[in-house]
Amino acid sequence: MYQIYPRSFADGNGDGVGDLRGIIDHVDDIAALGVDAVWLSPIYPSPMHDFGYDVADYCNIDPVFGTLDDFDEMLAVLHECNLRLLLDWVPNHTSSKHPWFIESRSSIDSPRRDWYVWRDARPDGSPPTNWMSMFKGVPAWTPDGHTGQSYLHLFLAEQPDLNWANPEVENAMHHTLRFWLDRGVDGFRSDVVNLIGKGTDVDDLSEELAAVPLLATDRPRGHELLRRIRSLLDSYPQRPMMVGEVYLLSAGESASYVGTPDRPELHLSFDFRAVHVRWDAAQIHRTIAAIQNDFSEPRWPTWVLSNHDQPRHRSRYGSDAHARAAAVLSLTMRGTPFLYAGEELGLTDGEVPPDRVVDPNGRDGCRAPIPWTPDGDADTGHGWATAPWLPFPTNASTHSFASQRDDPRSMLGLYRRLLALRAATPALRSGALDLAPLDGDLLRYDRVSGDQRITVVVNCGTAATPWPDDLLTASVLAASGERIVVDGAPLDPLEAVVLGYE
Ligand code: NOJ
Repeated sequence: MYQIYPRSFADGNGDGVGDLRGIIDHVDDIAALGVDAVWLSPIYPSPMHDFGYDVADYCNIDPVFGTLDDFDEMLAVLHECNLRLLLDWVPNHTSSKHPWFIESRSSIDSPRRDWYVWRDARPDGSPPTNWMSMFKGVPAWTPDGHTGQSYLHLFLAEQPDLNWANPEVENAMHHTLRFWLDRGVDGFRSDVVNLIGKGTDVDDLSEELAAVPLLATDRPRGHELLRRIRSLLDSYPQRPMMVGEVYLLSAGESASYVGTPDRPELHLSFDFRAVHVRWDAAQIHRTIAAIQNDFSEPRWPTWVLSNHDQPRHRSRYGSDAHARAAAVLSLTMRGTPFLYAGEELGLTDGEVPPDRVVDPNGRDGCRAPIPWTPDGDADTGHGWATAPWLPFPTNASTHSFASQRDDPRSMLGLYRRLLALRAATPALRSGALDLAPLDGDLLRYDRVSGDQRITVVVNCGTAATPWPDDLLTASVLAASGERIVVDGAPLDPLEAVVLGYE
């Protein structure tokens, strides 16, 4: 899966903000990378307080990105190239400019009043409950002068939470899924999807949890709602899928949101433990074991190293060598790897001076625009006709797309090779994972399907480590470094190798 942050991908109309035309212009490049599907962060009309995660109309395209005609063209071009399209569906909250909320806030008697979560302040005038919003450290309740009540928003005040306990809300949101499924999309990434289970069930939490109420919103209703969403998806001929963002208190709990084979919910549920792991052999080993355990058969995990909410892993780990080893890990894991556009170039975050900060939650760096060409500086060039909305990654000049396109030894070359190998190798695509005990800094696992076995070795350390004796007869299928044959030479620092057997 290839995540595109549309504002930062490619600018078709030269206004400094990426758009659908820009994506259309690069579909061939995405196909050449070898991914199966593209997920677009939100492209709906939005006041952009949270850059599209504040949706004012679920069934249209924001003019900054293009039109519905552009969308249809983009979908057709993606499908011609055998790429599927997932949209980002934002079910927990709308924009405060959504007509539903405008109507809801208009009066206590509004027919849409109960579409959102309204409460009276406490007798002493304090907010209805102790919940804090996820952004800006303010209460999750904002008083609305007009009616005197407060509305709930787990994120910005411009993102009021919908009340999914109201069946009309459920119907209306099902309609938004149908709108895009009828247009031919192949699925959705669903934003903070477990939150829809809370409805109006928002009573006081312990002080610790009230600071991050998101983590305390695992409710049976969420699972019921997801089962009904799944039935809707399953009724479509294109067999659409949904991957959900589920953040919960206990690590691994998100796995329960795929349901069971007879009562399915999400197809995939994100696990973000890999995003948070430091580059350390023991930690990586523990994380792989935990994710594989929580998502054991018939569940299937995801593997995420970067996205639009976290510093890029090339920046977190600190070198190309780390990022190359991470690429081998990510693309040989049991699970669906989610690539964040630009990681295949080894991009770092951008440096955003205080006067250029636009995100309310400090995430501008990882949203730096993609440098298509090497020519340019921190603010202009790199294939963008106008200076883009954010500064470029700090390594834009050395790591642009054009500087890597024709170089098989580049990061892009490595990603292409690994994706092609994965596509052609059943054990890597869907085989079981057999994780060996950690040997110093040497991480090792087998992927197995029928009689096919693939071995992956990763030297996570910064010193050379001996080549394992039992792997002297294996052959190299892909490697993060220069190795093309097994000759017993020690593994270089941060070297990762994929091995097969004749
Ligand atoms: C999670 C999204 O990934 C993030 O970008 C957004 O700000 C919040 N959900 C709120 O929608």
